[in-house]
Amino acid sequence: MRDYLDLLKTADKDAIRARRTETAARLAQPKKGFLRFREPYEALHHLQARFTDFSKDAVTIGRADELGETDLCLVRETMRAFMPWRKGPFDVFGVEIDAEWQSWRKWNRLLPALPDLTGKVVADIGCNNGYYMFRMLEHKPRYVIGLEPFLQHYYCFKTLRRMAGADELFIELMGVEDIPLFPTCFDVVFLMGIIYHRISPVEMLREIRAAMRPGGVLILESQAIPGEEPVALFPEERYAKVPGTYFVPTASCLRNWLIRTGYTEVEIFCSHPMSSEEQRKTAWMTFESYEDFLDPGNPTLTVEGYPAPLRVYLRANSP
Ligand SMILES: C[S@@+](CC[C@H](N)C(=O)[O-])C[C@H]1O[C@@H](n2cnc3c(N)ncnc32)[C@H](O)[C@@H]1O
Repeated sequence: MRDYLDLLKTADKDAIRARRTETAARLAQPKKGFLRFREPYEALHHLQARFTDFSKDAVTIGRADELGETDLCLVRETMRAFMPWRKGPFDVFGVEIDAEWQSWRKWNRLLPALPDLTGKVVADIGCNNGYYMFRMLEHKPRYVIGLEPFLQHYYCFKTLRRMAGADELFIELMGVEDIPLFPTCFDVVFLMGIIYHRISPVEMLREIRAAMRPGGVLILESQAIPGEEPVALFPEERYAKVPGTYFVPTASCLRNWLIRTGYTEVEIFCSHPMSSEEQRKTAWMTFESYEDFLDPGNPTLTVEGYPAPLRVYLRANSP
């Protein structure tokens, strides 16, 4: 398999390769927490889909009639090992995976602002199971590199990617805090559903800009509070039951963060209220979901009494 690092002249290749070696040694240990996801990944090593379709709402990898009954059962069982599925939907050899999020809605909203990805080096920070990376393939990028620090999503993506044979897609078991390893590397960066989880969002935006090539484009999607003022809510403990939520900004606050960190041509291109049609409990994600996060008597508030979230989308350039 090709390595995207061969193309990235400015990346800190030694450090990235050292991290890979370290990660591989760590994950090779027979620990329960690793085996739980590594074994399902290894179980489907022999499967390669003949048919793929990344242009539809459900990312489709293989058709049911490509496999015999034993392999079909194995696929069904293995896909269940990666529960809860947060992002999707996927259709894997006819197994329909209805994830918590109807992620195609987010993808469709950002399409009008999508820069030309043809031949581009793209990063998807916090890529989860890679739903959006697969959808990007329709736009012919050179490479898409997902950064994802969680093992469940990392192995889930690797399993899907191998069956799909999508050679342009890569993943590193890393977080946004590792972005300084990639100076001046990316033409396009997606940062979606991440910024409100960061304790230093402004510093992160600065570091991401340093990872972008001149003229690069950032697509930023975030939870937001309603309002025109450039302010951010800082919850006492949780926001919509989610711990690890720090600054929940208004759209204009996000715009100001981008401007102050040196981005240009900053545009807010979409804003909409969240809904329990878009994020809900399914057979593949059986825990609480959006409607459980709101005040049952007043859906304009979260259970903590804060304003219920909007989702906002911004596009910005790195000069
Ligand atoms: C709310 S989800 C958003 C997923 C996807 N980007 C989207 O917009 O649908 C946040 C993702 O970020 C990942 N994540 C958690 N900590 C992170 C970090 N330090 N750096 C990058 N991603 C992180 C989570 O595992 C999860 O996949």
